[in-house]
Amino acid sequence: MNHILIVYGTTDGHTRKIAQVLAEDLRAHLCSVDVLDAGGAFNRMSPEGYDAVIVAASVHIGAYQKSVARWVRIHAKALNLVLSAFLAVCLAVLEQRPEPRQGVETIMRRFLRQCGWRPMMTRLLAGAVLYTRYPWLKKWMMKRIVAKAGGGTDTTRDYEYTDWNDLRAFALEFLQAVPAAELVEGGVI
Ligand SMILES: Cc1cc2nc3c(=O)[nH]c(=O)nc-3n(C[C@H](O)[C@H](O)[C@H](O)COP(=O)(O)O)c2cc1C
Repeated sequence: MNHILIVYGTTDGHTRKIAQVLAEDLRAHLCSVDVLDAGGAFNRMSPEGYDAVIVAASVHIGAYQKSVARWVRIHAKALNLVLSAFLAVCLAVLEQRPEPRQGVETIMRRFLRQCGWRPMMTRLLAGAVLYTRYPWLKKWMMKRIVAKAGGGTDTTRDYEYTDWNDLRAFALEFLQAVPAAELVEGGVI
């Protein structure tokens, strides 16, 4: 059985939901999965002892949660020795124009370079607009940004843009890599 660690950072809660759905998916494939909030007791978590690690964080004004950056920096060496993946949650990935997507790809590359982490897989995943959880200024600001991008602007409700099938496909792709990497480590390939 594969022992997998999912570490996530969240500001409004949606990436926690993504981490939990991903964990359920991996458990359905008979993996043992621990899910940890990087903003919680990050000192006690370590990638050591796990076969694979997935880190998920969301973009807020061009940056991921500081708690995730700190955790990845502290554990970059260990992360580079196991199978690992980075899941970047954002909204720019929904835009038709290429520039916003290029922007979030640049943010991801810079983050990985600054942390010294080389994950085997990276994925951009659409997040959510949770108007009902935002204070009024954030609600007003998000409505303007989202309106420009052609998204939902009814601030009395939330909009979930995550493609759960895409997340499921990511989980499968990740799992397929696990035995292959064990063979490489064992010197078979
Ligand atoms: C204040 C704020 C700033 C954001 N900035 C960006 C951004 O710069 N680029 C982007 O693609 N998405 C941005 N987003 C969208 C978030 O990444 C998206 O809402 C995500 O689902 C948030 O995840 P969380 O609930 O786990 O924090 C922003 C959202 C908020 C509320």
